[in-house]
Amino acid sequence: MTDPLAQPLRLPCGAVIPNRLCKAAMTEGLGDAQLRATDRHVRLYRAWSEGGAGLHITGNVMIDRHVIERPGNVAIDTSHPPSVDAEARARLMAWAAAGTVGGNGLWMQISHAGRQSPRYATRQPVGPSEVQLDLMGNYARPRALREDEILALVQRFADVAVIARETGFTGVQVHGAHGYLLSSFLSPITNRRTDAWGGSLQNRARFLVETVHAVRKAVGADFPVSVKLNSDDFRKGGFSSADCLGVVQLLNGEGLDLLEVSGGNYEQPRLLGMSGRDDDAVQVRESTKVREAYFLDYAAAIRRVARMPMMVTGGFRTRAGMEAALATGDTDMIGLGRPFCTHPDVARRLLAREIDELPAFERRLHLRPRGLLSPASPWLLPKMVNVLGAQGWYYQQMDRLADGRAPDLSRGMLRSFVRYWWNDLSKAARLRR
Ligand SMILES: Cc1cc2nc3c(=O)[nH]c(=O)nc-3n(C[C@H](O)[C@H](O)[C@H](O)COP(=O)(O)O)c2cc1C
Repeated sequence: MTDPLAQPLRLPCGAVIPNRLCKAAMTEGLGDAQLRATDRHVRLYRAWSEGGAGLHITGNVMIDRHVIERPGNVAIDTSHPPSVDAEARARLMAWAAAGTVGGNGLWMQISHAGRQSPRYATRQPVGPSEVQLDLMGNYARPRALREDEILALVQRFADVAVIARETGFTGVQVHGAHGYLLSSFLSPITNRRTDAWGGSLQNRARFLVETVHAVRKAVGADFPVSVKLNSDDFRKGGFSSADCLGVVQLLNGEGLDLLEVSGGNYEQPRLLGMSGRDDDAVQVRESTKVREAYFLDYAAAIRRVARMPMMVTGGFRTRAGMEAALATGDTDMIGLGRPFCTHPDVARRLLAREIDELPAFERRLHLRPRGLLSPASPWLLPKMVNVLGAQGWYYQQMDRLADGRAPDLSRGMLRSFVRYWWNDLSKAARLRR
């Protein structure tokens, strides 16, 4: 019997992904004080590349060193020559070489944090409009970008994609999801503009579509270009599942090789299967709640309009769930995140049929008592402690892999939460930009 997970996938650009498993983007936090790649990226990605997945996507690489997602980001800021000098490029090349030793693809995720850039990393975030992220006081009011700045950023995405290609990455992904800059332009909540970059869906999608267009033109027809897009923001009045279908139609003409489907943002962290403020939330469909993968229902609708291959990411934890998703044709690739932090060889073991179920530590990481602190809690703060604590826990597993150590599965979530803040704040204090 042929194993559906082991089948290669030929992309429209001609590149072939050796199997259907992908490690989705996970921000590593391993950059140095000048936001460059380090030996720790090399160690982490070698371990992952040896782990059998056909495709790996890097954590978000920032195109603006002044507006970052967290202090350990890698930034390639073409307006600042040291971020693209020989030393910075040599480090990217070492990262790409290590991350492809297993014969897999390694795509660079290219991103701008927009308004989701914490105060300790960025004094002045930017966005489509001056709509502040209201989350524990940690985010400053963004400045609305001028049109000339938007056009310059479109060019920067394309320049960084070229650098990715030149330094050995085998593809790129434009981060259009999760509330970061491109995603915030898509949402009527955060985009209140009345010029050509706001208002109608076509206008709100203009930044994303022009970016993809510029990236494709810059890297050529034979290099994989992907977009990560929300199926829905899950916020009342925000970017909706109907909007998503419209954006996919706009992207159909842009020669994409893979559309990755995700959902949510900092206010509604549905990408991780969690929710935020109840009064703000669009409820997920009942049919979605019973499925292991969070966005599969949405993917089925997207599939009907999308003309490019698709990947669904979020919640896949069983072979049966993955095989069923491939069999329906609602996805061509299976995106996995957290299992790779605890078990870097999870893809190899799935493909060798050594395991049928993946580790799902996220289900055990919540603080007790459950009533108060569970994902169903009506209070935002405990929910956020749970979200960020679990994130911190996964960051620390990546940290350990990057230091050549085994993951520590017995580590407590609260300790991880404290360590995460301590690490990020001390890195922020050392930043030299
Ligand atoms: C520690 C961590 C870091 C993440 N960083 C990114 C990122 O840089 N870019 C991105 O698009 N998604 C990021 N994500 C989301 C993942 O790509 C993925 O969508 C999510 O983890 C759901 O997949 P899973 O249920 O298999 O973990 C991150 C998730 C985790 C847990």
